[in-house]
Amino acid sequence: MQNVRLVSLLLVVTLLLAACGAPAAQPTAAPAAGALSGQIAIGAVWSLTGAAAIYGPSQKQAAEMAVEEINKTGYLGQATIKLITEDDRSTKEGAIAAFEKLINQDKVVAIFGPTLSNSAKAADPMAQEKKVVVLATSNTAAGIVEIGDFVFRDSLPEASVIPNTIKATKAKLGYKKVAILYGDDDAFTKSGYDAFKAALDAEGVEILATETFKKGDTDFSAQLTKIKGLNPEAIVVSALAEEAAGIMSQGRQLGIPDSVRFIGGNGFNSPKLAQLAGKAAEGAISGAAWFINSTAPGNQDFVKAYNAKYGANPDQFAAQAYAAVYIMASAIKHAGKADGQAIRDALAQTKDMDTVLGKFSFDANRDPQHTPVVQMVKDGQFALFE
Ligand code: ALA
Repeated sequence: MQNVRLVSLLLVVTLLLAACGAPAAQPTAAPAAGALSGQIAIGAVWSLTGAAAIYGPSQKQAAEMAVEEINKTGYLGQATIKLITEDDRSTKEGAIAAFEKLINQDKVVAIFGPTLSNSAKAADPMAQEKKVVVLATSNTAAGIVEIGDFVFRDSLPEASVIPNTIKATKAKLGYKKVAILYGDDDAFTKSGYDAFKAALDAEGVEILATETFKKGDTDFSAQLTKIKGLNPEAIVVSALAEEAAGIMSQGRQLGIPDSVRFIGGNGFNSPKLAQLAGKAAEGAISGAAWFINSTAPGNQDFVKAYNAKYGANPDQFAAQAYAAVYIMASAIKHAGKADGQAIRDALAQTKDMDTVLGKFSFDANRDPQHTPVVQMVKDGQFALFE
């Protein structure tokens, strides 16, 4: 009898200890880590230099923080994650080289990233061929998960965010005529344009002009002068943050009034946009997959821990990278072995997992399912557009 009591007591203590050490985004019904042991090599490919270096560093920091938490709490039993990070330099070539190294030399079972959809389209097919799982954390263009059944993303695609952005902004601002400016040589900016065009058409909004730019352009005055002459009630911009900041600054300099709001997609969702464009970014609106004040379980702990570690608030890109590490860790735990096919199959089963992005599931196409928000820049910070 005493033995039974002792065993029960030990069980209670073990459960309590496990609960105290549980990572913030742990799924509600986590299985035992099974036979997992040793270091599990996972790659991460972020744009740490080049045009998308606005996004990569916060992805890297958040992913590293999640891996540290997971390893420290023994979430994977005897096993730990070894995260091998590569810089893709914001280019397709950089992403291909990084994937090659991670797959052939480091023998990773999975890869997070790359930051840009444009690079993903070039590099992901290599992982698909070798049955290495890819979990994209910021690819929002169309045609990513279609690369193959080993490719997942936890970043809401433009096509599922933008209709809501246009509906909400049209209802509140009452615009009837807009102009569009987008990059026509990038997978994400082009895809954002397609989604905006479809959403504006669906809402019966007239498109007065459709102007384009190319990667690396810094002078948008010709397009903006034309747009200004047409007096649109809002300007829809599908651009990465650096170009978007240039467009906003030059637009206001050319005299496009503050009442003509800039409306954009996922490229806007970095605090760097307001840092680069200053006052010109005030009022800019974008659909987002995450909001800093979200009350999703673990989110406020994540914001606090990130801030304490890195001295700045996380952004949407950080939140998606952080959630991705937990989603992957949970799949590895369910798989019970560090094997590409087993992890892929477990990942596909992810359903209603509590993450900093909210309750998270993959749909049948390995795309994420959770609710987007509409946010705007207010006093240099993101606030909900309400
Ligand atoms: N959302 C951007 C992309 O997909 C970063 O390229």
